[in-house]
Amino acid sequence: MANQKVFTLSQISQHKSNKNCWLVINGRVLDVTKFLEEHPGGEEVIVEVAGKNATKEFDAIGHSKAAQNLVLKYQVGVLEGAKVDDMDVVEDKESNSKEMSAFVIKDDTSSKTATFLELFVPILFACTYFGYSVATRADTVG
Ligand code: HEM
Repeated sequence: MANQKVFTLSQISQHKSNKNCWLVINGRVLDVTKFLEEHPGGEEVIVEVAGKNATKEFDAIGHSKAAQNLVLKYQVGVLEGAKVDDMDVVEDKESNSKEMSAFVIKDDTSSKTATFLELFVPILFACTYFGYSVATRADTVG
């Protein structure tokens, strides 16, 4: 269960340097100070929106599901008046893995069909040729 401590925007705005960096994403208050160095998009973009609600900026980048789930790791509380559903992120993760496994199963079936055809077609040709040559030899002998 993520941290549900309630903060106001004015409290959050006290943490806007790279040594002490908080922001709000989808109603979650995040302390991303330790994440700044790791952020693939760079430290500066985050510090620019530090101490504020950065939901729009975060969404505008089109962050991956992995990035959205990572948000939970830095949650220290929730924004006053915001409705935050903890299941949101988990559901995203599940639907993503369902899509992936559906894709893998589909892909696997088509590759099995391809292998079967690759084997079956030459065998069919060989049998037809063998049958034909036996039949024509029988004709000649008879
Ligand atoms: C806790 C908050 C954040 C997390 C966990 C996070 C995580 C990430 C991750 C994992 C990536 C790599 C690409 C991806 O997986 O989507 C990324 C890229 C990026 N992020 Fe963030 N990010 C956060 C906040 C922000 C904010 C607030 C901004 C902008 C104000 C931002 C701007 C960017 C940019 C510009 C990139 C590079 C996109 C690219 O090269 O295509 N991020 N972020």
